[in-house]
Amino acid sequence: MTSLIDLEPNVIADEGLAELGEKRLAWTRANMPLLAALLREFAATRPLAGRRIGMCLHIEQKTGVLIEVLRAGGAEMVMTGSPATTDDAVAAFIARDPGVRVYARNVDTMEGHERHIDRVLASEPDILLDNGADLIAGTVRDSAHRVVAATEETTSGANRLRSELEGVVPFPVIVINDSPLKMLIENVYGVGPTVVEGFMRATNCLVATNVFAVIGYGACGRGIARSLRAAGATVLVVEIDPIRALEAAFDGMRVMARQPALAAASVVITVTGTPRVIGRDQVPHLRDGVMLANAGHFGYEIDRAALAEAAVAVEPVTALIDEYRLADGRRIRVLGRAEMLNLTAATGNQIPVMDLGFALQAHSLRALSVDPAGYPAGPQPVPASINRRIGVDLLGTLASVDFRREEDYA
Ligand SMILES: NC(=O)c1ccc[n+]([C@@H]2O[C@H](COP(=O)([O-])OP(=O)(O)OC[C@H]3O[C@@H](n4cnc5c(N)ncnc54)[C@H](O)[C@@H]3O)[C@@H](O)[C@H]2O)c1
Repeated sequence: MTSLIDLEPNVIADEGLAELGEKRLAWTRANMPLLAALLREFAATRPLAGRRIGMCLHIEQKTGVLIEVLRAGGAEMVMTGSPATTDDAVAAFIARDPGVRVYARNVDTMEGHERHIDRVLASEPDILLDNGADLIAGTVRDSAHRVVAATEETTSGANRLRSELEGVVPFPVIVINDSPLKMLIENVYGVGPTVVEGFMRATNCLVATNVFAVIGYGACGRGIARSLRAAGATVLVVEIDPIRALEAAFDGMRVMARQPALAAASVVITVTGTPRVIGRDQVPHLRDGVMLANAGHFGYEIDRAALAEAAVAVEPVTALIDEYRLADGRRIRVLGRAEMLNLTAATGNQIPVMDLGFALQAHSLRALSVDPAGYPAGPQPVPASINRRIGVDLLGTLASVDFRREEDYA
């Protein structure tokens, strides 16, 4: 397998860019107290010594700090990111470390991403840190892999593990997304405000005067809808699960079917984890001038190929806005190439939010590295002991929390 694949890293190896990445990491590192403590612990105990971790995760500043922790623990790293979300400066900086191999550029396409997945797997990792289950799916196609354990970061990957990959993954996979800590703090409080930030940065337009249709009222959609409403927007919610639709209604959202919501919305945000939520059949219902954005893991929620098919012209308006002009004169604007807007147009989830998420990753990878046989094959939640330890550690870092016991006040 290895001999057939070009394993040359494709990172932009530029010194100026690497120095910029180094500065970004300095600020990020200073605001990640959980990872700072773990780095000291990992450097002393080396729980990942002798391990090669194959990673597929957005390569940006917070990920850079996680990589430092895993390197301090003794792991060698081979990694790729996701199309449109790679911070080339961070990638250039982390690639300076001879123990880190990076296959990622911001301009990577979906086809390029698939080749990078093959490259990471051809490097024969024994532990995977996955995001969207692309690496894990690759091991199922190649029985010669030597993977003993994995973690999966996000909802979309967890969904794949419980559908198309159900019963076929022979090693344990700890699903970080299923941690109640991650679900609440990242998916609701992280994604909500940062997607609104992404909208503002991409468009420089007002939130309050727009009518937003949020499609999907899961943990992320709930956070986005609430943040939009807090910023004064009119928010319509489209949700196929009746319980979640009820929750949206009780949160004060206007719950609507997809077609009338699209006809009314000036901005549509997809966040369902499912493909083609806006596809060929939805194009006739979109308003002239509508802006379409996605916050779900895969860019496929908005079918850009179907939009291109319906268009007479497609032109970039800015680096973050593409305009599709339809034969009937309507103009459809797609923000951030329909990849996750909080990463393409803003700087992703807040640093402390990812401190929590990546502490879950580091603790889980340590547990799996030390005792992979101690866990059953297939997807499983983060062990309760890890959730509890991180919950306590996080409470201790927050400026808004005084969590001392009565007797400690004396
Ligand atoms: N942008 C980010 O930083 C970020 C962070 C975490 C997760 N994610 C991704 O966001 C997506 C959503 O995550 P989540 O945790 O909210 O998932 P979730 O499963 O909790 O919620 C998804 C919701 O979408 C609904 N849905 C599915 N298809 C629909 C359709 N056609 N129309 C209307 N509703 C539909 C489901 O019923 C569900 O309630 C996933 O792809 C996840 O990987 C993104």
